[in-house]
Amino acid sequence: MTKLCVNIDHVATLRQARMTIEPDPIIAADEAIIGGADGITLHIREDRRHMQDSDLFRLKESIQVPLNLELAATPEMLELAIKASPDMVMIVPEGRNEITTEGGLDVLGDVDRLHEFVQKLTAQQLPVSAFIDADSNQIEAANNCGFNVCEIHTGPYAEAVLENNFSLDHPNVIAERERVSTAVAHVLRLGMTCNAGHGLTHVNVSGIASIPGISELHIGHSIVSKSIFIGMRQSVAQMKRTIEEASP
Ligand code: PXP
Repeated sequence: MTKLCVNIDHVATLRQARMTIEPDPIIAADEAIIGGADGITLHIREDRRHMQDSDLFRLKESIQVPLNLELAATPEMLELAIKASPDMVMIVPEGRNEITTEGGLDVLGDVDRLHEFVQKLTAQQLPVSAFIDADSNQIEAANNCGFNVCEIHTGPYAEAVLENNFSLDHPNVIAERERVSTAVAHVLRLGMTCNAGHGLTHVNVSGIASIPGISELHIGHSIVSKSIFIGMRQSVAQMKRTIEEASP
């Protein structure tokens, strides 16, 4: 069964809007786990716009499911990852002015530096994931760099669903799903684990959850958005049910 890892960054976004103590991401993680989350993900950004280092260490102390730490490949983040020792390190590109992670990591264009970065993490027994586009050259490069996991960027699929009136049967949506599916098969052929995520919602997730071979889906914004109206527990439980129903 495809697992669901819940990204709770935007609970911290709301807290930081007032620079106060609520809503607390630790409570959000607890509620997500009661709702069925198989893992919890947070992104520590260079500008600390949402999650703070203290959130990372508090989550590490308190949750009983795997904790995934998303970060950019910088010396500061390397040090933080080694200190926190999460269950998985997820490397993403990071732009100061972007609203969210925009594209996949250019592994191909940064092989030497990323290889060294990954080696330093795997030497600490930390599994490392590359967030990449559904592109065969990037997948090959991720394998050459020593990444254990590839997370395939599902943003273009999600965009296609939005642009085509939420139809999962539109030819453009089917084409984007096929690109993800081909990438998943490629990652598995090379012996890496394959995850997927970005832009997935309660409406579009079934098209990706039905692809065989994906270990985990990483979903944040849509789950947190829906939790405002129905609560985190219910929002996660609904997402989990949809994934289970669509699973191959
Ligand atoms: N995977 C990665 C690598 C991400 O950067 C994000 C966003 O932080 C997600 C998954 C979750 O995307 P979304 O918030 O659109 O569900």
